Amino acid sequence: MRRPIIAGNWKMHNTINEAVELVNGLNRNLADVDSVDIVVCPTYTALSDVNELLIDSNIALGAQDVYWEEKGAFTGEISPQMLKDVGASYCIIGHSERRKYFNETNETVNKKTKAALNAGLLPIVCVGESLEEREANRTFDVIKDHIEGSLQGLSKENMANVTIAYEPVWAIGTGKNATPDQAQEVHKYIRGLLKDLFDEEVANNTRIQYGGSVKPDNIKDLISEEDVDGALVGGASLKVDSFTGIVKGAVT
Ligand code: PGA
Repeated sequence: MRRPIIAGNWKMHNTINEAVELVNGLNRNLADVDSVDIVVCPTYTALSDVNELLIDSNIALGAQDVYWEEKGAFTGEISPQMLKDVGASYCIIGHSERRKYFNETNETVNKKTKAALNAGLLPIVCVGESLEEREANRTFDVIKDHIEGSLQGLSKENMANVTIAYEPVWAIGTGKNATPDQAQEVHKYIRGLLKDLFDEEVANNTRIQYGGSVKPDNIKDLISEEDVDGALVGGASLKVDSFTGIVKGAVT
């Protein structure tokens, strides 16, 4: 049985005070949830303060990106070791906004994923097709390219620490989620790719989250699909009530 994982991607939202207020609310509401892995991914500037509030919490800390070098002259970048140092255990890598606005490629996603794993972080590797690609019937080709490129050279042992997030770009921040059937179709395809790339055990054990307009009222239908193991949540992770509703909706 794969344990559900719900992660909140706060993107470029929340001052430190707002972040603290949000996490205090989540700690209050979610303390009794023990069957779901819960992760919040604040901006870099709020990581340290949020970490203080998560020390005795069932909520884990994640970052939204990472660089692949350990240290050096890389102005503006943050290393995996620095994320460990600030208390993060997870790290989102290759989010479609990074691929679209910041020239992230499969190659950089792959380097970041390997560096994160070497430092003991748990990467959440994002893949997903655009609307144009879906309409051109290229969804599976794009997913194959993202999965193979992003996970290239990883070992089976590495994969025990990797979560995949399937996020169709057309569903992110649009209010238009993939239907449970659409999500299941791609999640199942990804599991097949993992079997080809690694083996059946990796395919069965790897958690695949769905992301894109997840809300308290659609999480249950999504997560009841066989190959959907959780959600990567943007907008609805910014409010205590909606993120609480999503996490509780994932409790089996
Ligand atoms: P959304 O974002 O929930 O606001 O659609 C999801 C994501 O980008 O991870």
